[in-house]
Amino acid sequence: MLSEKMEQALNEQVNAEIYSGYLYLSMSAYLEEADWPGFAKWMRIQAEEELEHGMKIYDYIIRKGARVTLKGIESPQTEWDGVEAIFEHVLEHEQFVTSLINNLVDLAIEEKDHATNLFLQWYVEEQVEEEENAMDNLARIQKGKDSIDALFMLDKDFGARQAE
Ligand code: FEO
Repeated sequence: MLSEKMEQALNEQVNAEIYSGYLYLSMSAYLEEADWPGFAKWMRIQAEEELEHGMKIYDYIIRKGARVTLKGIESPQTEWDGVEAIFEHVLEHEQFVTSLINNLVDLAIEEKDHATNLFLQWYVEEQVEEEENAMDNLARIQKGKDSIDALFMLDKDFGARQAE
């Protein structure tokens, strides 16, 4: 079982993960329109991963015999000032998600909910990876941003990403 507080907070995180997917899909659509198919593909795979993150929590709530309650997903931003601005936004967003996960872990500890604390450790680890990737990606784009050839090569490289 889950405490009412924990159930509500986990439901909010389902929403936040789906919103992340929606935001990255919006970035992917922008990148398609801007003719960066590789970056667009990378972002679309990222969006799919976020939906999986949401579903993992969804399934956990059910396993604990609690209730999933879905709420509306906020409309994501649709315009950015180019590729660098997008990848800056990704880093900022992942740092925000890390803070949400940390708050959830704090609550699990407060509620003495060891199972949920253990479940959330996957997300703690995942956020280290998400922030690391976001920093690396941004650094690569910042290095290449003044050369259209370098950006084309990066686009090709990002486009090689395969869904896991
Ligand atoms: Fe679900 Fe990108 O963190």
